[in-house]
Amino acid sequence: MTTEEHAQTPGQRLTALRELLIHRPPMARELPGFEPTQAPAEPVELFVRWLLAAMRDGVPDAQVLTLGTTGLDGTPDARIVTLRDVDPAAGEWWFWGETDSPKGRQLAADPRAALTWYWPAFGRQVRVRGAVRTGDAGAAAGTFQLLSPKSRAASLVGRQSEPLAEVAQFRSAWAAAEHELAADQGIVAAGYTQYAVRAEEVEFWQGAGDRRHVRLAYRRPAGAGEWTRGMLWP
Ligand SMILES: Cc1cc2nc3c(=O)[nH]c(=O)nc-3n(C[C@H](O)[C@H](O)[C@H](O)COP(=O)(O)O)c2cc1C
Repeated sequence: MTTEEHAQTPGQRLTALRELLIHRPPMARELPGFEPTQAPAEPVELFVRWLLAAMRDGVPDAQVLTLGTTGLDGTPDARIVTLRDVDPAAGEWWFWGETDSPKGRQLAADPRAALTWYWPAFGRQVRVRGAVRTGDAGAAAGTFQLLSPKSRAASLVGRQSEPLAEVAQFRSAWAAAEHELAADQGIVAAGYTQYAVRAEEVEFWQGAGDRRHVRLAYRRPAGAGEWTRGMLWP
């Protein structure tokens, strides 16, 4: 914070921030076009195309997404998770998490989710909504072994999102997890789970600097096999 900003009252600082934000429109740069009539019949194909373009272009953490769930009290909840796979045949998007965490409990109570990506370099947003299922425990155990030792230790520590009274408690739980791992390389954290979102709606949003954004929505109501698609008003 500069001396000048220090001299301002909180109210004045807020006004300055508001000014700054108003004069900072998103996507004020050259962005690619998007022609929905050329889009493939299946949304997974287009998603993979956009994801790979973002990764190739060096968008940091292009695979991470915002996972939206319904809180146990009905309040929406959201956090970042990492995309782990996309299954074109099933139309499923995969991420990993802990059953013994707020999101795990929320998904057990209401197995529906919304996934959202934004790739700033391209001004592209993708939204996926659908029913959530958990993968089988055997496959999860197999994948757990592929994680780095630090990721496995983090998962073994568990208690995700519980209040932490003392950092020392975390340090000692971490040391215990590393000890467990050293003693048994095959150990799998009890709550470690793979989640799949079977998409019912997938929307591709191509931003434009002139605000004439282009939106294409695919729909496949639960149980139906074929995707339908159509444009949306921006
Ligand atoms: C870049 C990034 C990647 C993350 N990936 C995951 C992930 O794949 N799985 C996960 O459970 N949490 C992941 N997290 C942590 C979550 O955002 C969150 O803090 C944690 O899962 C607890 O969420 P919950 O309290 O809603 O259950 C990631 C966070 C960031 C910033």
